[in-house]
Amino acid sequence: MSSFQVLTTVKELRSYLEEARSAGSSIGLVPTMGFLHEGHASLINASTDQRDVTIVSIYVNPLQFSPDEDFSDYPRDISSDLKLCDKHGTDVVFAPSEEEIKTFFPTTPIHLREVTKTFEGESRPTHFQGVATVVMALFEIVGESHAYFGEKDFQQLTVVKQLVEDHELPIKIVGCATVREEDGLAKSSRNVYLSADERSQSSVLYQALKVGAEAVSRGETSTQIIESLIRETIETSPLAKIDYVGVVDSSSFEIPNKIVTEVRLLVACNFGQARLIDNLPAKKKVGSDH
Ligand code: PAJ
Repeated sequence: MSSFQVLTTVKELRSYLEEARSAGSSIGLVPTMGFLHEGHASLINASTDQRDVTIVSIYVNPLQFSPDEDFSDYPRDISSDLKLCDKHGTDVVFAPSEEEIKTFFPTTPIHLREVTKTFEGESRPTHFQGVATVVMALFEIVGESHAYFGEKDFQQLTVVKQLVEDHELPIKIVGCATVREEDGLAKSSRNVYLSADERSQSSVLYQALKVGAEAVSRGETSTQIIESLIRETIETSPLAKIDYVGVVDSSSFEIPNKIVTEVRLLVACNFGQARLIDNLPAKKKVGSDH
């Protein structure tokens, strides 16, 4: 296919995709809100490794921010984004205006399952409806494809998988591992909000998740004990303000009474004006029963 290009209209993108498909190319889609970092780059790399053509969408979606959140301050740097996309082998950056993408938003609210009501869904009640609206529009525009999402936003990944299942969409969701800084902090566009002190304390989230995961691995089956261990570790950091700590079943996202084999540990925490989320899988080691 031709080299790197930036498209802003659905018409241009569809005509590009039509040509790609008639040449037999498989399509990878990487939805983003820009201000791209190595976490996003890992999704692009997975797509360029596995698919013939990679489309990266960049759209800061106002619908997934509530009025008191950081939509207008959300960091933006399109020229650096385009460089990163080009460097990692993206074929097309799709950067639509609000007017352009809006016509593809579903006209009635999307039915979302229970998973959207807890944790992120409880703290940010309109968030997942906003995410679902824009993701459904992108899926409708791009059509049959593999779509790459990060485990960094584990609940979002679960919601998107359910959307595809519920609407029988011709999309395969591929989850990609979280990319971290050297001290363990998950890479995020919002890390730029952290002051030097907040930044150095923020690695406590990863440390706390690891403490929880190690206890599960040793055979601890009580979700309450795991939750307390994570909380106590985070609370050693004076600048951390915990929003939630959770232990959920990795596929259903339900809170288990007891940990049987594998769970996902979740945290959301404020450091100053930055709201950070992270998660880690936790698995019982064979033979570790109490
Ligand atoms: P954004 O926050 O830009 O993230 C785009 C994708 O990159 C998401 O799938 C996210 O999980 C992934 N990602 C972010 N940080 C990562 C990291 N450190 N390691 C691995 N993957 C990472 O998530 C959104 O945008 C939006 O909600 C969107 C899906 C685009 C809908 O507007």
